[in-house]
Amino acid sequence: MDRIDPWEVKEVKDYNKLMKDLGVDDFSQFSKKLKSAPLEISRNLVIGHKDFSKVYDCIAKKKEFAILTGLMPSGTFHFGHMSVINQVIYYQNLGAKIYLLAADLEAQLTRNITQKEAEKISIEEYLLNYIALGLKKKNLTFYFQTQGPKKSREYMNLSKLASSKTTFNEVRAIYGDINPQKLISALTQAADILYPQLEGMKTTLTPIGFDQLPHASFTRDIASRMDFFLPTFTFHKLIPGLQGPNTKMSSSKPESYISFGDDEKTVENKIKKYAFSGGQPTIKEHKEKGGNPDIDVSFIWLKYLFEHDDKRLNEIEQNYRSGSLSTGELKELLIEKINSFLKRHKIKREKARKQVDKFIQN
Ligand code: TRP
Repeated sequence: MDRIDPWEVKEVKDYNKLMKDLGVDDFSQFSKKLKSAPLEISRNLVIGHKDFSKVYDCIAKKKEFAILTGLMPSGTFHFGHMSVINQVIYYQNLGAKIYLLAADLEAQLTRNITQKEAEKISIEEYLLNYIALGLKKKNLTFYFQTQGPKKSREYMNLSKLASSKTTFNEVRAIYGDINPQKLISALTQAADILYPQLEGMKTTLTPIGFDQLPHASFTRDIASRMDFFLPTFTFHKLIPGLQGPNTKMSSSKPESYISFGDDEKTVENKIKKYAFSGGQPTIKEHKEKGGNPDIDVSFIWLKYLFEHDDKRLNEIEQNYRSGSLSTGELKELLIEKINSFLKRHKIKREKARKQVDKFIQN
């Protein structure tokens, strides 16, 4: 069995096998039922869940539920980070209460980042972009792990008390080779995920990438031994890095991602130079044999991030497969989408600056 290490993310080759091995259920029945959902859901980037039917029931019956998620303040905000927040905003608009935390403790323990840096990145890179993407203050609690929500002592104690509900054997079985810093981070994350229940929320959903799956299993084990309801999760595939369909966007490798701070020229250069192509080596061959959109990063990015029109996406796919659309033309489409997105986004981010303080006050 492949083990996932949430602190050392590798690409996942076979999501279906992983879901089977780790008891994750297929999400497709819900992606069809959720109306006006973001691309992450409607185009099936979210493929797995645990207990989502509880959340679906709340949505259908207009009952209260909470979304809880955390951001890792370890570097620049890039398009690989958009999957989570788009889902959070969708559920917020459906009426969910939102709990959002900055994992400044985890960043210090596992990424060698100082408290000061972690705070700055949380606000400048994450919160500002989140607000610009549409996150609202209403019904939202934001906190830093080092401070706790509303200075809650119960939250601060929860991670420590949870330690008596696990063993080294279990922790090794879930996380493999683990050190004290990672263990504290895992227990803190469990406290994050269970905290909304201390405020009376019965149904909570944490939308996360597959890399975070071990934390989901660990938290559910602890919850079952501590008189909590089992928290629910959805899992999405990671959007690939520019180097290929099985690579990841990595903060330490600027050529692997487009960041929200990249200017037009940088976007153009990065896509032209690095975006892995599923096309043929020569134009002649491409015209004859056609390209493969399934492994083409520009196409994959259009599908999950930028092209909202299903008909148009379909057309691009067909033309690429048939060879009438070249790799260069496909890249131009992507470059134009990214740059017009970022242009509009930058204006929204300047407006967000005026609001950001309101989000931080507990
Ligand atoms: N470990 C997460 C990451 O690396 C951050 C995180 C901390 C988190 N607490 C959380 C994510 C609770 C979801 C829910 O990105």
